[in-house]
Amino acid sequence: MNTIQVHLGDRSYPIYMGEGNLNNPELLTQHIKSKQVVVVTNETIAPLYLQNVIAHLQQYQIETVILPDGEQYKTLASMDIIFDALLTKQYSRNATLIALGGGVIGDIAGFAAACYQRGIPFIQIPTTLLAQVDSSVGGKTGVNHALGKNMIGAFYQPQCVIIDIKVLDTLDDRQLAAGIAEVIKYGLIRDAEFFAWIEANIEKILARDKQALTYIIERSCLSKAEIVAADERESGIRAILNLGHTFGHAIETGAGYGTYLHGEAVAIGTCQAADLSRRMGWLSDADVRRIVDLFKKALLPTEPPVNLSAEECIKLMAVDKKNVDGEIRLILLKSIGEASLPIGVDKSQLLETLNEYGRSK
Ligand code: NAD
Ligand code: GLY
Repeated sequence: MNTIQVHLGDRSYPIYMGEGNLNNPELLTQHIKSKQVVVVTNETIAPLYLQNVIAHLQQYQIETVILPDGEQYKTLASMDIIFDALLTKQYSRNATLIALGGGVIGDIAGFAAACYQRGIPFIQIPTTLLAQVDSSVGGKTGVNHALGKNMIGAFYQPQCVIIDIKVLDTLDDRQLAAGIAEVIKYGLIRDAEFFAWIEANIEKILARDKQALTYIIERSCLSKAEIVAADERESGIRAILNLGHTFGHAIETGAGYGTYLHGEAVAIGTCQAADLSRRMGWLSDADVRRIVDLFKKALLPTEPPVNLSAEECIKLMAVDKKNVDGEIRLILLKSIGEASLPIGVDKSQLLETLNEYGRSK
């Protein structure tokens, strides 16, 4: 087992990575300082892994909250279900919340932990590749609003993150690919050598070779931990983690939450960001082809939905946390391995990308 530390002063915490970590109760119990524990999960994950987790927690008062599955349930209404359970059982302010699931459960449950009685400790047990390499680390929690993705939320760090690579065995191929989109992101934004490694090893990753999966999870978590430690609340460098996300969030919201997986929308959005970076004179045609080809090899979509117009996208992109005074600001690529900080873009160039990239048939 390997451990990476997220260095945030008195809010520092470990990320435990290994195979079989769900069956290592010590990892979990050393971070529980209360008698009351609530495990939040969903109806897909509960039959697979809930017993594994609660079997080790018999010495505690345990509640479980099983939410419906899907991005469309990443709402304030789901948070209310958690609050109802906690208040009905008179859970106190020192109770511990465990988020067992993918990014949707981690984001909802983490935000519920941030809000319940102004904050209770929580632990992340991410069960998708995407959650293991990205969403469980760094303390971004929140829910969607009908008018914008992740618009309601808080920065709230977990006590620890427990990653068990074994749980990826039950993840379907489409979800695995969605996680690979965020892995490719780390290569693009700051690690050209890692990008080349993914290109050379994509078949192994798709075949779920354990060594390859371990390597991409560790290298991604290390990158994320370094970036979060440098800029926890995204006043600077952390924004580069949003490469492709402004385009992607517009696709997710515009197509209807749940139509595209988050990682799929990020893959398309990253290709659009690469296209715009080329129009800015930063990337070459060959760079863009290399990026699009890798997403394709990872079995991810690379073209925007035909029924989402450029104008509709612009409207949706205007609701983004990176925007300042109503100006759309994007993370673009200066080269493969180097992202820009958020920059205001020329609207006509942005429209060219939205109208032309992936639209010609
Ligand atoms: P998800 O949470 O919806 O999980 C994907 C699907 O896989 C779900 O149906 C889930 O029930 C199922 N599942 C989960 N683990 C499984 C397992 N081990 N075996 C079988 N099925 C399993 O999606 P996701 O891709 O994990 O997360 C996407 C969400 O994460 C989005 O809402 C996105 O906004 C958010 N996100 C947050 C951050 C952050 O920093 N907080 C970063 C990236 C993404
Ligand atoms: N996933 C973006 C971030 O954590 O900042």
